Amino acid sequence: MKTFKIAALAGDGIGPEVMREALKVLQVVGRKFGFRPDITEAPVGWAAIDAAGTALPDRTLALCRESQAILFGSVGLPARDPSIPKEARPERAALLRIRKEFNLFANLRPVKLASALSHACPLARERQGRGIDILVVRELTGGLYFGRPKKTESLGNGNFQAIDTMTYATAEIERIARVAFEAARLRRKKVTSIDKANVLENGVLWRDVVTRAAAAYPDVTLEHMFVDNAAMQLVLKPDQFDVMLCENMFGDILSDEAAALAGSLGMLPSASLGATGAETTFGFYEPAGGSAPDIAGKNLANPIAQILSAALMLRHSFGLHAAAAAIEAAVDKAIIAGLRTGDIFNPGETGVRLVGTREMGDAIAAALG
Ligand code: IPM
Ligand code: MG
Repeated sequence: MKTFKIAALAGDGIGPEVMREALKVLQVVGRKFGFRPDITEAPVGWAAIDAAGTALPDRTLALCRESQAILFGSVGLPARDPSIPKEARPERAALLRIRKEFNLFANLRPVKLASALSHACPLARERQGRGIDILVVRELTGGLYFGRPKKTESLGNGNFQAIDTMTYATAEIERIARVAFEAARLRRKKVTSIDKANVLENGVLWRDVVTRAAAAYPDVTLEHMFVDNAAMQLVLKPDQFDVMLCENMFGDILSDEAAALAGSLGMLPSASLGATGAETTFGFYEPAGGSAPDIAGKNLANPIAQILSAALMLRHSFGLHAAAAAIEAAVDKAIIAGLRTGDIFNPGETGVRLVGTREMGDAIAAALG
């Protein structure tokens, strides 16, 4: 039987409880499609700081290196221990480090509003137009997140200056642009490239390189949009977007906005890839929503983003397209059947039932069977 080696890093907050549901679904889909998910769990984030003293212990990193994919929960508990320096905190020391370490430059965030969830969308029905189905392609290893210098320095007299640096090289822009154009070919063949070319040097280069890269994709329509306008267009007319191509910071912001349109951040999976073009590749899969400490451990979290992230893993790292589609169909089925976690629950809606994390996971696993 085909075996796939997976590192499962549940992390903090709701991570462990949503991970449990995703692993449950993976076992079921493995039995159904005849493959074995060989899953090894390891600590990351505050869980790892508590257990091993660092947010990304060497053993966890070694496990990631030996695996074909990383299924990740979430890290970061902002309220914890302000004495631990920012460089050692999980966001930077685990998440950003893994992204950089494995050169995971291409972050794919598919945002889709299920028709059964159109009431959960903050936009009125008329504004939803033909429906919301957007792929945010976010550059993940460059820009303001990683540029140097990055520091806070004293100017004297209690006055400080913080510096973050935004840099992009042609090759970095080109490779993420290609990811966006390739993805658009499998969708509605439109790329909207987001920049701030009216103010930033980075924006001018970005626009220039993306325009040149587009020449290799004459079948795809390219449109450029300033980021402030894009934020507005998302809420005015979201159905104009197919693929949104964004640098790191803009993609971070716009993908949360887009996710809210799809009903909840708890519905948004993501794939972070280091190489594209090959049939399968090493990848990192995580819900885009974060650790949600306020609802952690209460069986309230929506496990769908984690489960859909596992589906993306099957597709992009293992080439198991039918199994990935089966998970996505099972999620749709559970929603159509009326199951709702709190984040997508509307008491005014008829035929729905408020459920917990476990029940939602069980229903999705059962829908697969
Ligand atoms: C995301 C998150 C991360 C980011 C944080 C947790 C560092 O918001 O994946 O979107 O900013 O990239
Ligand atoms: Mg974010």
